[in-house]
Amino acid sequence: MKKIVIAIDGYSACGKSTTAKAVATVLGYTYIDTGAMYRAITLYFHQNHVSLTNKKDVEKALENIDITFHKNEKTGLAETFLNGLNVEGEIRKMYVSENVSQVSCLTEVRRAMVAQQRKLGKKKGVVMDGRDIGTVVFPDAELKVFMEADIYVRAGRRQEELLENGQLVDLSEIIENLKKRDHIDSTRAESPLRKADDALVLDTTFLTLEEQVDEVINQALSKILND
Ligand code: DC
Repeated sequence: MKKIVIAIDGYSACGKSTTAKAVATVLGYTYIDTGAMYRAITLYFHQNHVSLTNKKDVEKALENIDITFHKNEKTGLAETFLNGLNVEGEIRKMYVSENVSQVSCLTEVRRAMVAQQRKLGKKKGVVMDGRDIGTVVFPDAELKVFMEADIYVRAGRRQEELLENGQLVDLSEIIENLKKRDHIDSTRAESPLRKADDALVLDTTFLTLEEQVDEVINQALSKILND
């Protein structure tokens, strides 16, 4: 059967990764969480005190960063590794969320990540989620989805996710973080978050996970079978 690239972009905490993971599982595709890549770089910069304003330092640091994904045999889900170490839990923490948008604004960082993402999706059969997948990384993706949702719904979902990982964070702190990231992500000079002209808009405010997944799978099947 024909394999396609499915690009899922949108605001933070709209359910992109949960939807993308489920769609990838149903279609037998590889799921690639590009936000995790920017989070892993943010963690490395934090641990190694890399100055974001020093271009040389940033370039040198990027040469020492190796990001890979490995399947957890118990859960069946891919986890993020930074230089061979599993950082899946650490990169979801609030201190990483608070700094990741500033790191992902940097031209050198974006250039390196986009190149790696294109390599990962070269053979197709991938579901990739992020902010610039349908506009920059794979502008020719066969299916592009742009997800959005009400800010309170998004914050509530993120709070639950953090709680599942043992972190209790105030809703107001989460709302502030989401608003700040949305602003930086959509106003930055380098590949800002924006809907591709040919993307399907999926507002998940009143949708269950099953409904979101069904919608994307139906669209994907129509691309795979009919085009
Ligand atoms: O999807 P996420 O919330 O884990 O992403 C973390 C941050 O990474 C997000 O605030 C913006 C950045 N990002 C990006 O700039 N481009 C992508 N393709 C994916 C994420």
